[in-house]
Amino acid sequence: MAPDAPPDGQRFDPSDSRQATRSTVTGPPRGILRLGHVDVTVTDIDLATAYYTGVMGMEVTARTEDSVYLKCWDEEDHHSLRLRYASRVGMDLMSFKVHHEDDLADLEKKVSRFGFPVERLSRGETLGQGESIRFSTPSGHVMELVADVEKVGTSRRREPLAPEPSDLGRMVRDQIAPPRMDHMLITAEEVGDSTQFFMDVLGFRITEQLLDGNGHQLGTWLERSHSPHDLAIVHGTNGGLHHFAYWLDEWDDVRDAADILAYNGIQLDVGPTRHGITRGSTIYFFDPLGTRNEVFTGGYRPDPDFPTLTWTEDNIGRAIFYYEGELNDRFMKVHT
Ligand SMILES: [Fe+2]
Repeated sequence: MAPDAPPDGQRFDPSDSRQATRSTVTGPPRGILRLGHVDVTVTDIDLATAYYTGVMGMEVTARTEDSVYLKCWDEEDHHSLRLRYASRVGMDLMSFKVHHEDDLADLEKKVSRFGFPVERLSRGETLGQGESIRFSTPSGHVMELVADVEKVGTSRRREPLAPEPSDLGRMVRDQIAPPRMDHMLITAEEVGDSTQFFMDVLGFRITEQLLDGNGHQLGTWLERSHSPHDLAIVHGTNGGLHHFAYWLDEWDDVRDAADILAYNGIQLDVGPTRHGITRGSTIYFFDPLGTRNEVFTGGYRPDPDFPTLTWTEDNIGRAIFYYEGELNDRFMKVHT
């Protein structure tokens, strides 16, 4: 830890020159804080890197023989996305940040007690972070928890307008450049069992749920960071990634993102539109290798006593896409 590291909860001054430092914590352990990074596999790492830097506007923080590590401009941590070369597109793991090293020991105990083996990785085994634990969730996803992540600092690189006009005759940014990653959505054969695990073992809170006619959960939205969701689970194949989502600050940024995607020939999957669930504004689209991305803004701030909102299958269209009132086939069936 650098001697001049700010106390927990305070931000680094972005005008400072970057100094790599470890995270600092004070106070009692608080469990899982938020999504840390998503690790996906890609079949063409150069193409993927070109897209995530050139269109999304992420910054490369490290490269290894088979991987590229990237972060958004307003993120302090070493990376929020890892791209690893593999022969098929998929998801390696989801990594969530915990507050304190003691949280790792506590959650390791809870996951073990639940009956799932936990692997401990020591400092240096994974790039940019200290000790971590890994385990499989009931949905067959590899989950990582880590407290100590290298801080590389924000770059305050909010792009001004691009120097060249777009096809629309007005100036737009040339990259989407979201300030940070926001949440992810995974697929599970048994949404109910998985949701129970995330709630009972890992301490997630359910903000919204989508039920079928028999009262079974088709989708659940779970949070740790007092946002509408840090993680959502929908019915589908075990181990699947439906999408990960970037945060944008406002609706105008969503509109600009649509312009930038269109300008770069990236076909939109859905949107721009609004979700009924979360109330957020959104666009879905695919990276060039087939992983679904989302940009997301808005939504509500759930109070600690926020009741779980329940949607039923007969209203699934409005729940997911509030304006259209219906789902497209691709959205339901395609994931990586
Ligand atoms: Fe999402």
